[in-house]
Amino acid sequence: MNVSVLVGSQWGDEGKGKIVDILSERYDIVARYQGGANAGHTIVIGEQQFILHLIPSGILRDGIECVIGNGVVIDPQALLDEIRFLEEHGIDIKGRLFISHNAHLIMPYHKVLDSINESGENKIGTTGRGIGPCYIDKYDRKGIRIVDLLDKTELEKKIRRNVKEKNKFLKNIYSHEELDVDKIVEEYLAFNKAIKQYITDVPAYLDKAIKDGKSVLMEGAQGALLDIDHGTYPYVTSSSPTSGGACIGVGVPPTQITSVFGIVKAYVTRVGLGPFPTEIEGEKGEQLRQWGAEFGATTGRPRRCGWFDAFLLNYSRMINGIERVAITKLDVLSNFDEIKVCVGYEINGKRLQSFPTTESQLSKVVPIYETLPGWKTDITNVKTYDELPAETKNYLSFISEHSGFEIAFVSVGPKRSQTIEL
Ligand code: GDP
Ligand code: IMO
Ligand code: MG
Repeated sequence: MNVSVLVGSQWGDEGKGKIVDILSERYDIVARYQGGANAGHTIVIGEQQFILHLIPSGILRDGIECVIGNGVVIDPQALLDEIRFLEEHGIDIKGRLFISHNAHLIMPYHKVLDSINESGENKIGTTGRGIGPCYIDKYDRKGIRIVDLLDKTELEKKIRRNVKEKNKFLKNIYSHEELDVDKIVEEYLAFNKAIKQYITDVPAYLDKAIKDGKSVLMEGAQGALLDIDHGTYPYVTSSSPTSGGACIGVGVPPTQITSVFGIVKAYVTRVGLGPFPTEIEGEKGEQLRQWGAEFGATTGRPRRCGWFDAFLLNYSRMINGIERVAITKLDVLSNFDEIKVCVGYEINGKRLQSFPTTESQLSKVVPIYETLPGWKTDITNVKTYDELPAETKNYLSFISEHSGFEIAFVSVGPKRSQTIEL
């Protein structure tokens, strides 16, 4: 039995898409378990770049079946755009995509509410994809789900009920113009035709697949520090990117999970607001952003960049149960004379024993750094671990030792061929 969970171990954009694409060759099924079109997973095949938001990154490998679990919030138009984009690039989706009947739908009012929230004092720098408001409705038991697309009468009833309620809020609380309910009903009734074919009882499908000996890779979106419970609240997303979210997000029981694999960027990035202890401000940070092409795959926003944080990684390893990892974007560090690694935090000269997730503490911590020599060599064509410069190997050993994980892959560029297996 091989049912693995793949998690982003920092604040997202660790290179999950690239590594899922590499690993999916060894799996039968790839399943996305949470988040929505806030994710942007990049895969480069030859000269073609694919950015996937909802469909698992396994779709680019022939014969791999792909699942979108109940934990994902689906913007139906974004989904259809993605399917069309893939088909235009010769990727056959037919019979390979399975969408949980219990996944919730992002509605136009979710995006409006997301944007209103972001214009106020509680701004956190969301992707504007309606994610938070959709999960609110889910937990408030007012959500509209994929399965509702199958019953047009019920769907229309639910949309009219919800839009009426949201319009009251929009008008009376936010002085915002009301939404046109007829337009939304018309738009959403039309999704039935295009999406019906993918709707699946996912837990039953996966249960049978696992019993038949098929292997499953669960693809996380976002990253552990964006987790609603374990992340740097309130600067988080509204779902559970950590490995525990995988069971809930696709309906596979914990007893079936055989391993947890972490994706770890060789430095740290974060998009949006929130504390970031190892952030590099000024010119050096800008340099790292340029070298790493650190601009959001979904929104194009510049990503904040910082030094590798082993203290944070230890926390992430603990809450996810990460055993083995892929280190990505190691090539981006090649230009530095010296590279810093954070090995702990202190507040008022006192070393912390555990990672603080509260804003008040995290904004006060002073990182304790160790400085390692850079390698100043282009490593983008290196094919084996042995060929890496001694300083690069030293860096890898140092971060793995201080974070407590075993390195299984090292990525030295965006392409499939730029991947070293240890
Ligand atoms: P994800 O959200 O975790 O899938 O990551 P993103 O796709 O948002 O961001 C990762 C970016 O880094 C993408 O542009 C990838 O093509 C790129 N990338 C992935 N691995 C490497 C690597 O090892 N080196 C370099 N230079 N770029 C990489
Ligand atoms: P992938 O899967 C990086 C961040 C947003 C914001 C916060 C909340 O590509 O790694 P949301 O729209 O989810 O309500 O925004 O979470 N965020 C991400 N940052 N990578 C992502 O996904 C992200 N998805 C959400 O920038 O700070
Ligand atoms: Mg991304």
